[in-house]
Amino acid sequence: MSSIECVIIILKLKLSSRDKNLSYYVRLAHKEDIAQVTEIDREAFPTLWPPVDYEHELQSWLAHYIVAYDDSEMGEEAEVTVAPEKSLSRLTSRVRQLFNDEHFFSSELPPPGRQYIIGFAGFWIMADEAHITNIAVRKIHRRRGIGELLLISIIDLATELNARNLTLEVRASNTAAQSLYYKYGFSQVGLRRGYYTDNKEDAVLMSAENITSASFQSRLNQLKKAHSQKWGIALYQVVR
Ligand SMILES: CC(C)(COP(=O)(O)OP(=O)(O)OC[C@H]1O[C@@H](n2cnc3c(N)ncnc32)[C@H](O)[C@@H]1OP(=O)(O)O)[C@@H](O)C(=O)NCCC(=O)NCCS
Repeated sequence: MSSIECVIIILKLKLSSRDKNLSYYVRLAHKEDIAQVTEIDREAFPTLWPPVDYEHELQSWLAHYIVAYDDSEMGEEAEVTVAPEKSLSRLTSRVRQLFNDEHFFSSELPPPGRQYIIGFAGFWIMADEAHITNIAVRKIHRRRGIGELLLISIIDLATELNARNLTLEVRASNTAAQSLYYKYGFSQVGLRRGYYTDNKEDAVLMSAENITSASFQSRLNQLKKAHSQKWGIALYQVVR
């Protein structure tokens, strides 16, 4: 298997906008993504100190990170992402289980070359709880459904990993993110006063419980359908 061939088992989602045909992909993060993920983190959370050490995060077996990238733009400094062969079967099986539908799988080759990452998200899994540590989209790509796409992917991945509850903290002033979480069934369950060290801002604690329940999954499916209609998702596909 060549290095290009072993890149690539990814979840591919095609979205179109009025002015441009876009193809967005979501896959598990690799260590080769750390530079761009860190760049997005710094843009989204410039005042958080110390910055998150994503190299350390990716090494933790509790942590699960995904990235979204747009194949129409190639990062200058981004390296081709090559997954180690041993990760291949794990990734294949995860993504297959994630969507659990052979219809969406094909042997189409993904575009070779550099990958421009537009957003990422991660969570830690502890017993039956998935704690969302981060979700961020590059500023110029916001309000195009990518944050929602990442959250959907996280919920599906956490469900597949047997999580029953999702938790997170969000700044009290971050109404954009809170609105995304409320949309997906999270509710406020607490407040941590002065939690953020940079400006002593309060953290709103949010959770979504019983994510495997029929009612949660049914609402999730409705939201996915609405998202796919709004953004013109053509297909979900794993390519290699
Ligand atoms: C929060 C964030 C990830 C949303 O990403 P995005 O790609 O712009 O979001 P989407 O386009 O998928 O929007 C999905 C939903 O999020 C909410 N939302 C996103 N941006 C919003 C805004 N500026 N104002 C209000 N609601 C907003 C809405 O509920 C929206 O649903 P709608 O389109 O039906 O209104 C993005 O704003 C971001 O990266 N922010 C900086 C990092 C951050 O704060 N992360 C959260 C840490 S807890």
